[in-house]
Amino acid sequence: MKLVLTEKQEELKQKVREFVEKEIKPVASINEQNAEYPEEIVKKASQLGLMGMCIPEEYGGMGLDHVSYAVAMEEISRGDASTGVILSVNNSLVCDAIHRFGTEEHKTKYLTKLAKGEYLGAFALTEANAGSDAGAIQSTAVLEGNEYILNGTKIFTTNGPQADIFLTFALTDPTKGSRGMSAFIVERKNKGVSIGSKEDKLGIRASGTSEVLFENAPVPKENLLGTEGAGFKIALATLDYGRIGIGAQSVGIAQAAFEEALKYSVKREQFGKPISEFQAVQWMLANMAVKIDAARLVLYRGAYAADSGKRFSKEASMAKLFASETAMEVTQTAVQILGGYGYTTDSIVERLYRDAKITQIYEGTSEIERIVISRDLISGK
Ligand code: CAA
Repeated sequence: MKLVLTEKQEELKQKVREFVEKEIKPVASINEQNAEYPEEIVKKASQLGLMGMCIPEEYGGMGLDHVSYAVAMEEISRGDASTGVILSVNNSLVCDAIHRFGTEEHKTKYLTKLAKGEYLGAFALTEANAGSDAGAIQSTAVLEGNEYILNGTKIFTTNGPQADIFLTFALTDPTKGSRGMSAFIVERKNKGVSIGSKEDKLGIRASGTSEVLFENAPVPKENLLGTEGAGFKIALATLDYGRIGIGAQSVGIAQAAFEEALKYSVKREQFGKPISEFQAVQWMLANMAVKIDAARLVLYRGAYAADSGKRFSKEASMAKLFASETAMEVTQTAVQILGGYGYTTDSIVERLYRDAKITQIYEGTSEIERIVISRDLISGK
């Protein structure tokens, strides 16, 4: 067992860090405050191959393993969690799904463009009455001739306002509930597809989140991903990969907050000495560092399991649960260390604190992660 990154993974980390320092960090807070989608950054990330990291080179990706993916996603989110989620959704929830479940035609027609960043992908699963209970969706897809006619409204869709491709879930047989769910690759330019209202969010404000509406949208029969009725399992299996991306986003947010708090504590003087010389602050810093290290290790374990070819739901959920709770705790402590300064928009820890919260909510709330973990433990598989 080796607990060090390979030379290639270290090189990737450095390359992404340079990109983040130069291109992302200088504009992250401004974009976030203005809720402005970082179009130029996403373009540059595409040129670096960061849109389809684990997709084979023949389909426009980088052919990386998922530990490398986690390393890169942490670095990106260390600079900006909004960019982190934009890339994570494209990489994990859309590219990974099409790569694993798509036909050769899906891969040549859609995956290659998504992995190169020529298309942006979104994952259209959640509905007003189907959040944590994803199996309760009501959108329908009725086969008529060579087309499925899609109807329904998706909400909270990350990348919704910008996406070219929606990996969309709808019921082909409503009598079967979640077992009658199917997955479709739907193009934005498809007739009957439109973007509804956009969300004004607490954090990750530079990423777009919106409703996606399907009104008698005719989707070609061949755009069915997998088989009819396999949609729910495709969604859940894909979310396992998504949880690696969000786990990495969480570690990146926590790492950024820790660095800021450490830097501040050695400079800030109170009672005649740097606050880092007070044991109260030292203990906070030590606790933050331990939690981040532990989160990163459980994340790498989950990412490693993602390449095993076996189901890794427990490992992915453990990684995401622990990392997201770490992000929340560490950013809160960072605000505490910076005191009044940490509570203002002059400091990035204010943004990081707000950004951290979503990691406990999307792609599985902390409660859902605990359900996935405990079901696995109880079933004894
Ligand atoms: N891989 C493959 N198959 C899986 C699976 C996985 N990870 N998880 C479950 N399955 C299978 C089960 O074995 C079961 O198969 P059988 O019917 O053959 O027995 C089937 O799928 C149904 O599974 P469950 O009975 O466990 O399903 P459930 O209805 O009890 O729900 C859940 C399980 C874990 C609660 C699930 O609904 C869940 O993960 N909910 C959270 C959804 C979520 O994360 N939503 C956010 C979506 S996207 C987003 O956040 C926005 C964004 O854009 C970032």
